[in-house]
Amino acid sequence: MNQEFTLNAMRTIVCQDAQGAAKTVAGLIADQVRQNPKSVLGLATGGTPVATYQVLIEMARRGEVDFRQVTSFNLDEYIGLAGDHPQSFRAFMDEQLFGQINIPIEQTFVPDGCASDIDASCARYEAMIRDAGGIDMQLLGIGHNGHIAFNEPGSEFDSRTRQVELTAETIDKNARFFDSPDQVPRHAITMGIATILDARQIVLLATGAGKADAVRNMLAGPVVAAHPASLLRNHSHVTVVLDPPAAAAVTELQQ
Ligand code: PGA
Repeated sequence: MNQEFTLNAMRTIVCQDAQGAAKTVAGLIADQVRQNPKSVLGLATGGTPVATYQVLIEMARRGEVDFRQVTSFNLDEYIGLAGDHPQSFRAFMDEQLFGQINIPIEQTFVPDGCASDIDASCARYEAMIRDAGGIDMQLLGIGHNGHIAFNEPGSEFDSRTRQVELTAETIDKNARFFDSPDQVPRHAITMGIATILDARQIVLLATGAGKADAVRNMLAGPVVAAHPASLLRNHSHVTVVLDPPAAAAVTELQQ
């Protein structure tokens, strides 16, 4: 049984386990697409959403959700990796989701990590989101350091899609996807905090004990740029979905 509570105006659902959390998030996304088949989804990469994408793929195979008219915008991309580089977020999305559901690939957008003019490309990405009508539902993970997308600690509340430098901690955490840490790009393009907060609805998924402190800081710490996820408390429609280890430091606060 899921446990649900509201902490600092953030709806928080603690599921039985990580698979339950993936099913809950997939259910929220599927409901959004059923309600509005032309939904604009904001999507995320990383280890966390893989199980959610797997559930969505299974639902799509059973005919329970149809992505034909959906448009998607991904949060971020490494600078210097082309879309066909196996560690690019474009390749990740094609493999983990897009290639396995019926979304037309031309309706899926990921920032261009190889754009010749990065600033212009970032401005274009913002315009494309606006032209698509804005993001209806944004899926987010959270970094151990509280980052959302690649908005590292110190990212400003009014930041938009831009080039950023990754912290040593993020490079270290993401090295697991590469053959060696020195292959991890040092820079990325990321949607900004303000871009993310423009979404009509935000669903943040965190699983595992390693995220417990970041989740506590997000839900119960001060709202500060030093912990970018806490800035989500300025949004009125956020759902945080957790497994028990990720929720450990906040379920305590409920008792
Ligand atoms: P992870 O990354 O899902 O691989 O833990 C989450 C994030 O950094 O936002």
